[in-house]
Formats: sequence, C-alpha cells, structure tokens
Amino acid sequence: MAEVLLENVTVRYPIYGVGATSLRNQLINVGTGGLLSREGRTTVEVTALRDVSLRLTNGDRLGLVGHNGSGKTTLLKTIARIFEPTLGKITVTGRIATVFGLGTGALPDLSGYENIRRMSMLLGATFEEAEASIPDIEAFTELGNFLNVPIRTYSAGMTTRLLFAVATAVHPEVLVVDEVFGAGDVGFQTKARKRMAEFVERASIVILASHSSDILDQFCNRRIMLEHGQIVG
Ligand SMILES: Nc1ncnc2c1ncn2[C@@H]1O[C@H](COP(=O)(O)OP(=O)(O)OP(=O)(O)O)[C@@H](O)[C@H]1O
Ligand SMILES: [Mg+2]
Repeated sequence: MAEVLLENVTVRYPIYGVGATSLRNQLINVGTGGLLSREGRTTVEVTALRDVSLRLTNGDRLGLVGHNGSGKTTLLKTIARIFEPTLGKITVTGRIATVFGLGTGALPDLSGYENIRRMSMLLGATFEEAEASIPDIEAFTELGNFLNVPIRTYSAGMTTRLLFAVATAVHPEVLVVDEVFGAGDVGFQTKARKRMAEFVERASIVILASHSSDILDQFCNRRIMLEHGQIVG
C-alpha cells in the first residue's frame, strides 16, 4: 500500500550574505513568501514550511493551493526527498515520480534521449524498461529530432513536455506534479490533461500544485491551502 506521511515537518532555507539589518520589521506582513527571520549578522532564514502534518493513502489525490511563495513547491520537493526537513519526519512508501518545472531532475547538457534514459532509471525503471518507454515518449512529446540535441536549447514548454512524458511513462505509485499545465501550448495542455487523467487512474496517490481551480477540480479529491508555509485549510 502506498502512503505519504508527514509529521510536523518544518523546512527552513538559510540565505547567506544578506545583511540581517536590511530586513524590515518582521511584523510588517507581506502577502507572498514564507517567513523571513534574522539568523546572525549576515544570514537570513526563510521558513518555507511550518509544522506541516499530513497523511495520504491509496486513492488520495491532493491539490495544493496557496499564494506565490506559500510553500507548495517546497512541500512537493520535500516529499520527493529533494529537500530534507529541518524538523519533523517524512515517510513515503511506494515508488515515486515527480514532475517539476525547469531545472529539476534533468541535465541541461545531455540530449533529450540521454535525459529520458537517465531520468527513467532515476525513477526506478530498469535499462530495458527505460528503452521500452522511448516510443511512447517520442509520440507524446512530438519533439522529433530535438530529442537528439542538448535540452539546454529547449524552450520552457519543450522541456515541460519531456519531463512530463518521462514521469508519466513509468508507473509510479506516488505522483508529484508541480504546475506543469501552465507551461506549454494549448496542444500540450490538452494532451497533458488526457495523459494525466489516465495516469491518475493508475497511481495510488497524486499530489498536485496548481493555481488553476479547473485543474484541481478535475484531478483532485482533497485540497489543502498553504499560507506562509502553514496549512490553513
Ligand atoms: N532555494 C531557496 N532558497 C531560499 N529560499 C527559497 C528557496 N526556494 C524557495 N524559497 C522560499 O521559500 C518560500 C516558499 O517557496 P515555494 O517555492 O515553496 O512557494 P510556492 O508556493 O511553490 O510558490 P509559487 O506559487 O510561486 O510556485 C518562499 O518564501 C521562497 O522565497
Ligand atoms: Mg511553486
């Protein structure tokens, strides 16, 4: 059985080389971002997640909402083990696949094909499984010969096509998706929604961050709202 369990998870990022005195009074609240605090003379800390507890099991499709900087991506990256919690504990049972925006998981100097093989294997596929998934990824991405060139030359939407196709070509039990539907053209969005729908049927747990309530209505059966790194509803 797949499970995602977060127990009192806090994630803080230190930001070095910022004069703490340049921070204005913490009490002046801003609409976006986590909480900034002073940490010594030259370090500032952002608390991106504060004391988040959450349990997801088979069939849970969670939508994450919240303002820019509220902690959605940080929560997804913590579940994906890209970040370690500063405090608290996280347990994920089941094979996990992630789709993040540009720059996560893919190596810019490798070609599309090389990234497909590498990322598939990082997602737990065997060499044979990675090879077998290639025709499907070629068809979905429609990138043609661009799959032979380094992905640093891709546009944002082209990269999203590739990352989304790879993550959904393996069959994870836990799928983590961060805002992919916004990048990419209308053609991609239509295809991505269709593929996502098939995928959501098969995955045990889905966690999706999006600013589109339309997307969340279609794919999610639970929702949480984050505000300054805390669950508020
Ligand atoms: N690498 C980093 N170093 C320092 N601070 C960071 C880093 N990544 C994120 N943050 C901070 O953590 C907080 C939460 O950011 P996060 O990216 O999780 O927000 P988000 O809810 O995904 O926002 P958006 O809707 O804009 O995607 C923000 O205040 C941000 O400034
Ligand atoms: Mg984000």
